[in-house]
Amino acid sequence: MFNISKPGVSAARIAVIGGGVVGLSIAWRLGQQGLAVAVFEAGACGREASWAAAGMLAAQIETEPTEEGLLPLARESQRLWPDFAVELERATGIAVGFRDEGTMMVALTRDDAEKLRFTHDLHRRMDLPISWLSAAEVLAREPHLNPRLSGGLFSPLDGQVDNRLVAQALVAACRKAGCDIRENSPVDGVEIVDGRVTGLQLHRPDQDPIFHPADIVVMAAGAWSRGIKGLPARSRLPVRPVKGQMLALRMDPAAPLLRHVVWAPNCYLVPRRDGRLIVGATTEERGFDRTQTAGGMLALLDGAWRALPGIEELAVDEFWCGFRPGSRDDLPILGMSDTEGLILATGHHRNGILLTPITAQTIVAAIVSGRIPELIRPFALDRFQAAAVSA
Ligand code: GLY
Repeated sequence: MFNISKPGVSAARIAVIGGGVVGLSIAWRLGQQGLAVAVFEAGACGREASWAAAGMLAAQIETEPTEEGLLPLARESQRLWPDFAVELERATGIAVGFRDEGTMMVALTRDDAEKLRFTHDLHRRMDLPISWLSAAEVLAREPHLNPRLSGGLFSPLDGQVDNRLVAQALVAACRKAGCDIRENSPVDGVEIVDGRVTGLQLHRPDQDPIFHPADIVVMAAGAWSRGIKGLPARSRLPVRPVKGQMLALRMDPAAPLLRHVVWAPNCYLVPRRDGRLIVGATTEERGFDRTQTAGGMLALLDGAWRALPGIEELAVDEFWCGFRPGSRDDLPILGMSDTEGLILATGHHRNGILLTPITAQTIVAAIVSGRIPELIRPFALDRFQAAAVSA
């Protein structure tokens, strides 16, 4: 088990693989403690999943029946978000669009309402503060929703943040905290000698990789984590890309069609303060295929139009796709690995933005103290090894 004493950590060279919100927030927190951190990002920081996301902070309402184990971590991260946003804004002057109006989930037909009641039973069993709303109560909160809808749920604790601004702010915060941000620096592999990390092999086009020494390596490469070479078989990460296509429409910011985040039967709708209305998302198992399809756009627009008919008049602003890092059980992979000095912070799947503050807090605590915080123990990589042995 990795264990490094405090004086050891203060002199350690730390390398983070991946400049998304997870890698950047870990680097920021380490930099704030005066530690030497370099972040290696294959392209531009924050331009992959952190860019593609919708920024929903939905620990309560996005709970899936198979992901109940995530709830304590997700709720703790949601609790941290308001202060995290304020601290980031104070550090950089960049407002990150944190909003806490609450989130609604609506049923359009009687069938949808039956399904929603079933989902609400699950919420009640988990003691989540989510309430049932009649159709009239939904429409009183959001008058532009389809007037024929049949009811909904209201989750006062779920909100949103503008993920693109968060990524931008984190880059600025990292630089202020003295982190060395290396963009356009793809990592080929991790160098390991006698079971211990010694550094990274950095990719160079048409040349041999160049070695970058590091005592601690944090793997935060999201959907690309599995492709980083050099890890022993037992530490290989079962993470795959789960494609999501999304689009943005443009509302009048002075008269937005929507104020709350709304989950409808085949899409979710996320209104930004600047008038953008984010519509997401498809869920596709297609590897790293970046094709933006007519079918994807059709499904999103159809779902959005059924819930919010007024979108018909809105301009289409943008259409994009991204890759959620999905692990074998769709839960994050956090903590130490079998390789000394290699720390894991990947596999955040649908919850990367939500889980950013708690991931940074717990991973930094693990690095500084050499001990794994209780909250992330269920998310260790060895849960897959245990499953393989008992199968
Ligand atoms: N968390 C929203 C999504 O994965 O589409």
